[in-house]
Amino acid sequence: MSSSILREIQLSGLDVRALVEGDLPKVLELERLGYSHPWTEAVFRDCFKDTYRLWALVQEGDLRGYAVVNYMVDEAHLLNLCIHPGLRGQGAGRQLLRRALAESIKDGMAQMILEVRQSNAAAATLYRREGFEEIGRRPGYYPDAVGREDALVLVYRFT
Ligand SMILES: CC(C)(COP(=O)(O)OP(=O)(O)OC[C@H]1O[C@@H](n2cnc3c(N)ncnc32)[C@H](O)[C@@H]1OP(=O)(O)O)[C@@H](O)C(=O)NCCC(=O)NCCS
Repeated sequence: MSSSILREIQLSGLDVRALVEGDLPKVLELERLGYSHPWTEAVFRDCFKDTYRLWALVQEGDLRGYAVVNYMVDEAHLLNLCIHPGLRGQGAGRQLLRRALAESIKDGMAQMILEVRQSNAAAATLYRREGFEEIGRRPGYYPDAVGREDALVLVYRFT
């Protein structure tokens, strides 16, 4: 297990709690600010199931970010990680990611896997610095402005 998981962090004033359906209006706002092709409300609602873990990053009661993880047997799939634009670059994404990793380990997962757009340098750098490694690419996985874009597939093995 990489040491970064053992270094769960808490930035001043930022807490992580379970995301609830009542958070969805704010989630959808952040989602539209975060992505060129945002998830719809229906996609988020479909994630409120036993095999999913949804995390909210809050600051003085306000939703500032969220993460969505799907458990498949012993694999945690990070489906979404998003931080309010005004809070980026201050360690909030790292805090939320580390919490999602730590919870996945507690829940008995063996690894976390994710896809990220190859153009998303901020996210790919965060994941790599936290211990993820590239295990493949999915050609044309994402829609982009003019066609399709490849996904990098990254994994973090816990054992
Ligand atoms: C990706 C995202 C979650 C990162 O959150 P963040 O709070 O800004 O990230 P942090 O401040 O915790 O940064 C942690 C590390 O990530 C890397 N990083 C973050 N932003 C970066 C950027 N713009 N360029 C390069 N590296 C960056 C750095 O290594 C940074 O560590 P350092 O500051 O010690 O060098 C955020 O940019 C976001 O919400 N983007 C829109 C949604 C998205 O693309 N999500 C990922 C989908 S796979």
